[in-house]
Amino acid sequence: MADELDVLLEKVADPGLRAELRAAVDKVRAKRNFGLVFESHLPERVRLPEYPVRRGTKVLRRADKSNGPMKVEGVRRGQATVVTDDGTSDTLPVDDLVVVAEFGEPVYPGLTGVGSIQRGGDKPAHVVINAENHHALEMLQFTHAGKVDCIYIDPPYNTGAKDWKYDNNYVDGEDAYRHSKWLAFMERRLVLAKQLLNPDNSVLIVTIDEKEYLRLGLLLQQTFPSSTQQMVSSVINPKGATRSNAFGRTDEYLFFVMNGSASPGPLELGPEWKVARDTRSENLRWAELLRAGTNARRDDRPNLFYPVFLRNTEHGPVFDSIGNVHIGPDWNELVPPSECVAVWPTRSDGSEGNWQVGPGALAKLIDGGYAKIGTWRGGNTAISYLKRGEQEKVEQGLFPVVGKRPDGSIVVDGSGYIPVFVPGTQWRIGAHEAGGPGGTGLLRSMLPERRFPFPKSLYATADAIRFFVADKPDAVILDFFAGSGTTTHAVMGLNRQDGGRRQAIVVTNNEVSADEAKSLTERGFHDGDPEWEALGIFEHITRPRITAAVTGLTPDGAPINGDYKFTDEFPMAEGFEENVEFMKLTYLDPVDVELDRAFAAVAPMLWLRAGGQGSTVAERTDAGGDLLQFAVADRYGVLFDPDRWRDFVAALPAEARTVFVVTDSAAVFAGVAESLPADLAVVRLYENYLTTFAINQGRVS
Ligand SMILES: C[S@@+](CC[C@H](N)C(=O)[O-])C[C@H]1O[C@@H](n2cnc3c(N)ncnc32)[C@H](O)[C@@H]1O
Repeated sequence: MADELDVLLEKVADPGLRAELRAAVDKVRAKRNFGLVFESHLPERVRLPEYPVRRGTKVLRRADKSNGPMKVEGVRRGQATVVTDDGTSDTLPVDDLVVVAEFGEPVYPGLTGVGSIQRGGDKPAHVVINAENHHALEMLQFTHAGKVDCIYIDPPYNTGAKDWKYDNNYVDGEDAYRHSKWLAFMERRLVLAKQLLNPDNSVLIVTIDEKEYLRLGLLLQQTFPSSTQQMVSSVINPKGATRSNAFGRTDEYLFFVMNGSASPGPLELGPEWKVARDTRSENLRWAELLRAGTNARRDDRPNLFYPVFLRNTEHGPVFDSIGNVHIGPDWNELVPPSECVAVWPTRSDGSEGNWQVGPGALAKLIDGGYAKIGTWRGGNTAISYLKRGEQEKVEQGLFPVVGKRPDGSIVVDGSGYIPVFVPGTQWRIGAHEAGGPGGTGLLRSMLPERRFPFPKSLYATADAIRFFVADKPDAVILDFFAGSGTTTHAVMGLNRQDGGRRQAIVVTNNEVSADEAKSLTERGFHDGDPEWEALGIFEHITRPRITAAVTGLTPDGAPINGDYKFTDEFPMAEGFEENVEFMKLTYLDPVDVELDRAFAAVAPMLWLRAGGQGSTVAERTDAGGDLLQFAVADRYGVLFDPDRWRDFVAALPAEARTVFVVTDSAAVFAGVAESLPADLAVVRLYENYLTTFAINQGRVS
């Protein structure tokens, strides 16, 4: 095919056209040929409703989504002179315009606190950010590159029902490009997310349904080629969502992308986590002392061929003594002590085998009550024992010892034992039901008057995460499609169970639903208007839901009804002893940034990078308006004037682990970094904040 094209190209007489065609063909050839091939060039513009319309900015008409961006030539008395791509100029009221940034144009992020809850003492605060997640992910490159332990996302499923927006427009079933738009949208975000994950040990969990799971699986494999990937099918709607001419849809899928050494850890799980019930795993497991499988012949391990002498008493058989390792063929002739029988490691067909342990180890097992005699069969009586892992279960008190048998073996009470294991890839857990008391029902009891489509069950999210962070009490968990904030809630639940200090960082936009957008538009409102923004997900759902979870109160101040059903149960009205910071990603005006007035807007990013704990250095100036030479907070410090590093070090609190040094000079930075205590993470900030924080520059995709 390639040759044929080349031959045809040679036939094009016009050299200019031939060159152009060749260039176009080369471009097509350079594209990916294998794997998932999709159109990724579609731009995503970002509306910046709070950004001032001024000369040089690009704008759209607020009310009309179909128009292309126009460049602002000048602004006078509330009127902007704009020029379209085809050169037509027009004068429009500034109020009718909204600034946009095209993909690839730098924008400058800032973070503004919009509220906080303090109930967790010195724990790191959970952070809930109202933002376009692509920009939030870029901002997080500064604060969390390589530091995130777990990302859990529940992205739009692209059902065709206007459940998400690409480039500010809802994507519906009629859109011929809806799959490639979805893939382009997801790929841009996953590439950024990958940079945030700890490469040595972290997990990315993505939920999805049958509409996009095949494409998502391939995209994940391409984006994380060296990670281990597994897909779990999880029943979230046991009754089945009706599908015409199709099977009812009962499940959805979770992709687990495990990086570095990450793997699901065994957890205490109830019997519903087994596809088939396995009662053996619910009790102590006594293993046969006679070895089976590999190395099970006498010749393989001659030192494990010895007799065990048993006596049968009126109470049952007992251990008498242990014989010596027997060398030679005549073992049958050995005479046991009086009243005893010798039990040899032989199989039912008479062939010679060996025991699992040597005579010394067996003696210890018998002393400890960890060896047991089976039903009396004379010299063929079976002997069993507890392997190390099972002995530990006894020693840890998981199986309390309640007595001893005549042979000295322990009798345990297994009624309170919950097995610890890694489950299979099919989950059918009642509490994971999306429409049940952990999902829609939970949200209804916390926010009685408000509706949010398809929240995840709290327990489904908590369980998915728990396999990877149960043993990481300081884990950082990110969700950049936070929706109603289930992930933050789940992390708080996990912390409560084990006293952990895990931190959830979640991002969601303040989108209204397609129906609401229509009705608001009909009433003359635009995005950016307070009436519109108040109904957005962040304002209307995420923030009040997380507030309700922490305080235990509904937005009306009433205690929330009901109990949580994590591994422990407790009233929802108790809330959680946690801290939360609500923030909004803002876009700085480059004019301000150049004037060095941006510090207040980047200050929360420094706090976040230093672990999101304790106080913040909020200002560049002191109360009198003079520029500070340095400033310190509970956990970090900012050195504005590197010459003052000695005073700065003296002022740093003992708990500080991060310092920011503001300088454009690499040499100055290196000098200061060397002089600072070695256990501090030293981060350089450029004097012009633009350089450190510019994002959206098309580094990806
Ligand atoms: C399926 S929902 C997540 C639901 C969530 N797991 C829960 O339990 O509530 C996806 C959310 O991602 C948000 N979202 C979609 N596109 C986004 C974007 N580009 N930036 C930020 N948030 C976005 C939507 O507002 C929506 O609420």
